[in-house]
Amino acid sequence: MNVLPRLNGLPVAESLKVFRSDDGAAASLRVGSRLDKYRIVRRLGEGGFATVYAAQDLVEDRKVALKIPHNAYSSNEQSLDDLQREVRIMAKLEHPSILPLKDARVINGHFVVVFPLGDETLGDRLTRRLSRATAMDYAVQMISSVAYAHEKNILHRDIKPENFILFPDQVIQLTDFGLARIERGDHDVSGSGTLGYISPEQAMGKPTYRSDVFSLGLVIYRLFAGDIPEYPFDRMPGYNRLRRGLSKDFVDMIRKAIDPKPSKRFRDAVAMHNVMSKIRYPLTDRSVSLKGSAVASSYTRRIA
Ligand SMILES: Nc1ncnc2c1ncn2[C@@H]1O[C@H](COP(=O)(O)OP(=O)(O)O)[C@@H](O)[C@H]1O
Ligand SMILES: [Mg+2]
Repeated sequence: MNVLPRLNGLPVAESLKVFRSDDGAAASLRVGSRLDKYRIVRRLGEGGFATVYAAQDLVEDRKVALKIPHNAYSSNEQSLDDLQREVRIMAKLEHPSILPLKDARVINGHFVVVFPLGDETLGDRLTRRLSRATAMDYAVQMISSVAYAHEKNILHRDIKPENFILFPDQVIQLTDFGLARIERGDHDVSGSGTLGYISPEQAMGKPTYRSDVFSLGLVIYRLFAGDIPEYPFDRMPGYNRLRRGLSKDFVDMIRKAIDPKPSKRFRDAVAMHNVMSKIRYPLTDRSVSLKGSAVASSYTRRIA
């Protein structure tokens, strides 16, 4: 599938190569080094083909996250096309629970993608205790972020705790659309995604909206249960812990999202979001309701 537009008649990877300076791209990025107005502060994470750094924007005087493909990939057309696709997808998304793209361009031969710097990932946060109310606030935002992407016909395909970034005031944002695809009815046959949160059918190479629903359901399950069911999904570890303090409606919604059979799940996150928005009291503690509480106001604000 080649849906990439061309820049000035050149395929995108070619046009990026025009900017490449061979010496710049070969050097690795050290703490303290400069890329135009960004000063590298530290390395944050390493993914499939890119490294993410915390950096200081010296003009705006604030911290940012820079996603930069590994040297080995910066001359590989396929990877540049992938990164370009990720950037173009993210540029289309504007939602309070999706990490906003701030900038993307070539600096000293590096393709640099710039985002606001978060505090940590949900994966990091899960190593510490989380109250039911906080977990619910996150869950609501997570569902609305994926619903929004699905509404725009975008499959994420790699929903997992490490791809949600946390900010102050309990804001959580989905990122890493590196594996994302604009859904056009055809399925591509790569089984990529992260084992652990990927659905059985995605592992077989057939991801759909229902596969994102499954992964999202598992991340939320983990938020409340501390553990997740694993293939072949016949055991529900932490199920009693999951149910503690949660309303039956909410637990039923999660169970439906993580049904091993795709046809029994929500057809997409929009359908899941619709069900969520009708659950007035997701916690058994009725002092927290989705309408009229702190959770609720953030909920309606983020849905609107
Ligand atoms: N905006 C950000 N703020 C803070 N940390 C981030 C940010 N973006 C990414 N990270 C860190 O870098 C890791 C990899 O980033 P990600 O976008 O998921 O790329 P990859 O494709 O390499 O997985 C994340 O899991 C997280 O630890
Ligand atoms: Mg990632």
